[in-house]
Amino acid sequence: MDSIRVGMLGFGNVGTGTYQTLLMNQDRIEQTVGTNVDIVKILVNDINKKRTIDVPHGVYTSDVNDIIKDPDIDIMVEVMGGIEPATSYMLSAMEYGKHVVTANKAAVAAHFDELHKVATDNHVQFRMEASVGGGIPVLSPITSVLRANKFEEILGILNGTTNYILTQMSENGMSYEAALKQAQELGFAEADPTADVEGIDVANKLSILMALGFDHHILPTDIPTTGITKVTPEQLADAKERGKVIKLIASAVNSGSELKYSVKPTELPLDHPLAMVKNEFNAVFLKGNAVDELMFYGKGAGPMPTGSAVAGDILQIVAEELR
Ligand code: HSE
Repeated sequence: MDSIRVGMLGFGNVGTGTYQTLLMNQDRIEQTVGTNVDIVKILVNDINKKRTIDVPHGVYTSDVNDIIKDPDIDIMVEVMGGIEPATSYMLSAMEYGKHVVTANKAAVAAHFDELHKVATDNHVQFRMEASVGGGIPVLSPITSVLRANKFEEILGILNGTTNYILTQMSENGMSYEAALKQAQELGFAEADPTADVEGIDVANKLSILMALGFDHHILPTDIPTTGITKVTPEQLADAKERGKVIKLIASAVNSGSELKYSVKPTELPLDHPLAMVKNEFNAVFLKGNAVDELMFYGKGAGPMPTGSAVAGDILQIVAEELR
């Protein structure tokens, strides 16, 4: 079969991680899905900017319509971030009959129902595994092999940047500023890290988890949210002395009659499973009424783990729709 043609919006950390994942595992991908997956167009602001990865001549474009309106592009990958224009671009691409893959938690959390409705109306797939937990496959299981459950609880560490900062401050005595700078250099942080440190990124991810797990879309702006900017080295040291650790915890409980949810720094005993989740690692704890307790653990941020999830969604679409 002809190769699968992918157009990508954005070429930052997640975009380059996706490109590299597809490139380094080209042989295996071709063997398992039976065709090449080629990124044929990438939307960037500046097509002349020097970048760390070389892409073939003519791949960069600064016109989104070269992707959305190109009938030969099968899948659009949105990794530009931000709610707009990303949401409008995704809706248009689906109206043009393209499958869409995104890592954009802010856009998905803000427009969950609309994005899914437009996908259904246009008979295309809308996939977003990378939007929660980076490389951790947690959304797909909720919507497939765990579908027979009613979920009662979701608890998690859902942001790599803040978990990295808290770990470095608590274990290595690093300052907040130095740890944030490192997290940015390692490609964990958002373009504007305010979303990370103020807990907004975690609220976006909790909103998506609740929409899929509880079938209830709560806007992230309606989730009571506190970030880590007021957590001091003294508080971390004091917690440590008492055999505790402070983590930024997302929590949601569905009692059947009521939903309770929040994002806030929380003290955990050192032997709590989430206390062992360090640096850019994330973990999601779920309780389903049939399966009982489950925990998903892995790298929640970083170009390659997140690129792995985006590439996985592309291959899932190829396997289900395009072979
Ligand atoms: N800025 C995010 C984080 C990236 O640090 O977790 C992954 O969503």
